[in-house]
Amino acid sequence: MAEQLPRTAGVLLRGCGSATPSRSISNDELSQRVETSDSWIQSRTGIAARRVVGPDESLAALSAEASRQALAMAGWSAESLDLILLATSTPDDLFGSAPRLQAALGANQAAAFDLTAACSGFLFSVVTAAQYLRTGAMRRVLVVGADQLSRWVDWDDRRSCVLFGDGAGALVLEACDDGRDDLEGFVLRSDGSRGGVLQLPQREEHQALIDGASHQIGGFQTIQMNGQEVYKFAVREVPAILQTLLSKTGTEPEQLDWLLLHQANQRILDAVADRFKIPQAKVLSNLASYGNTSAATIPLMLDEAVRDGRIQAGHRLASSGFGAGLSWGAALLRWSGPA
Ligand code: ACO
Repeated sequence: MAEQLPRTAGVLLRGCGSATPSRSISNDELSQRVETSDSWIQSRTGIAARRVVGPDESLAALSAEASRQALAMAGWSAESLDLILLATSTPDDLFGSAPRLQAALGANQAAAFDLTAACSGFLFSVVTAAQYLRTGAMRRVLVVGADQLSRWVDWDDRRSCVLFGDGAGALVLEACDDGRDDLEGFVLRSDGSRGGVLQLPQREEHQALIDGASHQIGGFQTIQMNGQEVYKFAVREVPAILQTLLSKTGTEPEQLDWLLLHQANQRILDAVADRFKIPQAKVLSNLASYGNTSAATIPLMLDEAVRDGRIQAGHRLASSGFGAGLSWGAALLRWSGPA
């Protein structure tokens, strides 16, 4: 990756929010559908339950609710936003769902677009948002991580269906000219050559269009995952990228208040914490309640820990997102909170 250019404006994290579907499905309930058990799932993943969007709910509504909470915490109006980034791999509309969110919020001065990087999407979006803020092109940005993987899970595949859930989380960021900066450093990586270990590919179905020409029928298959390969990828690459981040920013693990990782599997969280000798008490985890909500896991966890008082103004967090693509990244963040 190219050397990061000198900063101009700093970036402050001002508010967060989250929303999840009302229906929680326990491991025992899931065992009505596939041959599994609470003890198998808990011992291999740390997951006890997941939320699934019901008929009266939607990804759009969860995203809007999380966004309103983040705006309220910051004390901002929706009209004051310049940009909305919606990190999602499961949009309501393939042309983009962010403009619908923009309309629902009444953010009539904001441009809005989707950003897809699977479970790294939120982290990639925060870094993207920061670039608009640093250049002075924009002052206030809303970043939402939201996914409804339940649409694309094969609910008869016990090797993958037990892992995933739905949810949305939001963060609002502001440009700052007085030398403060809540994004102390970042590293982003992609490796499409290994993408086959976790994918949600198109259906390979074609039909005749006219004589001598056919067209593909739109639509996707279900999530296909090689769990062991994904696990190996995560426990190798996440510590490596965090080490690069810490070296680049001159940070010792003891200087971190929190480790805020993508919530994929408790064993992955534990392995990363062990590698840096970070005590369990500093490792944020809400996997037990929500499972892996893809782009939503990091902002959902952030919001929970800010609202219950664990994360306080001035705290430093090392965050890492990783997943399909393959894509992965890490960022050293500081929580400023409302002005
Ligand atoms: N319940 C009961 N048994 C199961 C289940 C289940 N839900 N799933 C698999 N098994 C069985 C398998 O059939 C297999 O049985 P067999 O030996 O008789 O064939 C046995 O358990 C072991 O299967 P493994 O796949 O080897 O299990 P493993 O210990 O690797 O755990 C797991 C599987 C939990 C999926 C693990 O590989 C993992 O966590 N990988 C990472 C997956 C992940 O995090 N993906 C998403 C990350 S990226 C993103 O967020 C999109």
